[in-house]
Amino acid sequence: MVLIAPSILSADFGRLREEVMALEKAGADLLHCDVMDGHYVPNLTFGPAVLKSIRPYVKLDFDVHLMVKDPDKMLEWFADAGADILTVHAEACRHLDRTLTAIKALGLKAGVSLNPATSEEVLAYVLHKIDQILVMTVNPGFGGQSFISAQLEKISRIKEMIKGYDIKIEVDGGINPLTAAECIAAGADILVAGTAVFAGGDYKKNMDALR
Ligand code: DX5
Ligand code: ZN
Repeated sequence: MVLIAPSILSADFGRLREEVMALEKAGADLLHCDVMDGHYVPNLTFGPAVLKSIRPYVKLDFDVHLMVKDPDKMLEWFADAGADILTVHAEACRHLDRTLTAIKALGLKAGVSLNPATSEEVLAYVLHKIDQILVMTVNPGFGGQSFISAQLEKISRIKEMIKGYDIKIEVDGGINPLTAAECIAAGADILVAGTAVFAGGDYKKNMDALR
């Protein structure tokens, strides 16, 4: 069964508490939180204070996607804010192995994200430290972009590569009912979606359509 992780990037930030409660009620499996620093990606969103302020209102696991340069100093901030999964970008870490060790030492699940141009091979020697691999199916920074189909082959390759490991494959960017089906067929376990979940306001119907 595929899991749905709505991205709060598409939420109404002025009503964030109500939005996350509505997503939980509508059957979301995880809450995908897109943290952008304006340096690693050309956009700026929110930090740990915002996540901490909504944390008491939902039980859902917080799947925190750190689109930040050199995330090491921030890991503790997000652990303290109530993150359950911390995903870093392979391209944004100076020493990926060290960063993953630090996430695990905080008692959290560790994810690694790969941009569309990054090969899965960068993960070959850290697989034992990873709980999930986030395949970016758009270039990170914005919601509402078009799915890059070349990533389907990457998903299949990762599926092969992680045989024997307890690692989930998550996809992020341009996910709609059509591209969701392609990603699931290629081996995705978790679908992140912003635009497709929030469009029209019926979160349950939208998430059911992705499943
Ligand atoms: C993009 C973010 C995504 C984004 C997806 O950098 O990582 O999580 O919110 O948005 P949609 O589903 O609109 O492509
Ligand atoms: Zn994301």
